[in-house]
Amino acid sequence: MTTTPSRVTVPRFRGRKKIGPPLVMLTAYDVPTALAAEAGGVDAMLVGDSLANVLLGHDSTLPVTMEEMLHHARAVGRVRQRALLIADMPWMSYHVSPEDGVRNAARFVREAGADAVKVEGGSKRVPTIRAILDAEIPVMGHLGLTPQSVLCMGGYKVQGRGEEAAQLLVDEAKALDRAGVFAMVLEGMPGEIAARITAEVDVPTIGIGAGVECDGQVLVFHDLLGMLPGPSPKFVRRYAEIREQQVDAIRRWADDVRSSSFPSDEETYGSKSDTSAAPGPGSGR
Ligand code: KIV
Repeated sequence: MTTTPSRVTVPRFRGRKKIGPPLVMLTAYDVPTALAAEAGGVDAMLVGDSLANVLLGHDSTLPVTMEEMLHHARAVGRVRQRALLIADMPWMSYHVSPEDGVRNAARFVREAGADAVKVEGGSKRVPTIRAILDAEIPVMGHLGLTPQSVLCMGGYKVQGRGEEAAQLLVDEAKALDRAGVFAMVLEGMPGEIAARITAEVDVPTIGIGAGVECDGQVLVFHDLLGMLPGPSPKFVRRYAEIREQQVDAIRRWADDVRSSSFPSDEETYGSKSDTSAAPGPGSGR
């Protein structure tokens, strides 16, 4: 592993608890998103299992497999420069036994160059988290609206509403903290509960739909950039409308093709004096 001085490591990330500006984490599933996230200066990139919905067209994260996650994590790992690289453990890659969890976590490190893995759930995950940590692999926790629990939750519902549910989440967060996670995602919970957890645990909390009091924020790349059709969830702020630009560009290109104004002479190889090389597909980077 080569590290540059500015590289965000797990201890550096963890050390940002209540120090400096909030941490910035973004999903990255492939080379173009990873390059953009790095150029945008994020602290961490998450190869999230949300790619099941966003890229693969599933209606939950449950169908995505280890092999599919590795395929994407390897691509991101190839171009990662400075940001911490976290791989999401997909459903059933750590649910059967801690040993399974260790073996699968190690594949993300060995095959994709991940710095850490993320697992969903609270105290019932502690034996698995400890086993992965014993194998020297840092673990990020994930509490609240955990999408892999969609069947048990009966849908995607804000968690921790009501004092009993809120206290349960605080207790679960403390259990993860004690188990040794280096940070935890807090998803889909009232801002005041996330603030309570943030005050009571020693590691950074990274919020998504959990208010501004967390130690950092994470969003899905495609949500942030307005790349998906339809309205965004309440917690998303769109900083661009890329889908509109994509559709417009495709329409204009299609018109040019249909009117035979694409390609032009300049966009066509000549046979004699033109010595320009033929780069491979997608050679823009
Ligand atoms: O899979 C994912 O993208 C995530 C983030 C939303 C935290 O788990």
